[in-house]
Amino acid sequence: MDWGMQNRISRIIKPASGRTVMLAVDHGYFMGPTTGLEKLGRAVKPLLPYADTLMLTRGALRYYIDPGVDVPITLRMSGGTSILNKQLLHEGSVCSMEDAVRLNVSCVAFSILVGAEYERDTILAFTKMVDEARSYGIPSLCVTAVGRDMVRDARYMALASRMGAELGADIVKTYYVEGFRKVVESCPVPVVIAGGKKIPERDALQMAHDAISAGAAGVDMGRNIFQAENPVAMIQAVRAVVHENAGVDDAYGLYRSLKSKLGAKAKPRAKAKAKPRAKVRAGR
Ligand code: 5RP
Repeated sequence: MDWGMQNRISRIIKPASGRTVMLAVDHGYFMGPTTGLEKLGRAVKPLLPYADTLMLTRGALRYYIDPGVDVPITLRMSGGTSILNKQLLHEGSVCSMEDAVRLNVSCVAFSILVGAEYERDTILAFTKMVDEARSYGIPSLCVTAVGRDMVRDARYMALASRMGAELGADIVKTYYVEGFRKVVESCPVPVVIAGGKKIPERDALQMAHDAISAGAAGVDMGRNIFQAENPVAMIQAVRAVVHENAGVDDAYGLYRSLKSKLGAKAKPRAKAKAKPRAKVRAGR
């Protein structure tokens, strides 16, 4: 493998553990101002010291992140549909490789939707990105997106992940499912898991632990970190699982003790009760 490519991968997948904690905050590209990321810069800043890479869009990077930060960037290169669209995830390229290079990114990410009517579009656009990225020594992350009505099981995830790798991905991002070992063992490149919708903190740590035990190289987690009651405590607990092989009880214990030390994230103030509208007398 080319030196530049290897060097970029090593900045993300830490050679000491062979693992990574990727912080995903790219949700705005199809979800807009996602809960917890309304003020993205402010939400992400305290998490950066614990993130091995930050995954986001070029807009979020330019508008919210200080160019002086020392964190490798994984740039979301695909998009084109919103959460309001029935064909959600029918994605194409939304960023040029020249702009990715200008932004000095360490990795580029693209979603493919295997099994959907339009899978071919997403796959061809992904492979085009891989070719361009390779010419600059930039690794590619393939996100195996899953449509709303699609079955999430090990057979499907293994199929989509293996395809991602054979089509040129250097890292595959997929979802944790029962029998995950099959997914990892049949994929020749490192596999990381997305967090998915917010679940209780202990359950998210359990999922990360189960994925690591099954051979995953780490997590690319978003909502289960930035929507946690205390995101700074949560990312450190996730790190303990990923980089230190912490068990779930220990990681959750760490989360709770950090949370009480750091203080729970300020809860949104309850909405002020609407003033009762002045009664309008019927008839004048
Ligand atoms: C969708 C994505 C995301 O936008 C995001 O990275 C997912 O993170 P999480 O599910 O952990 O919130 O990759 O396919």
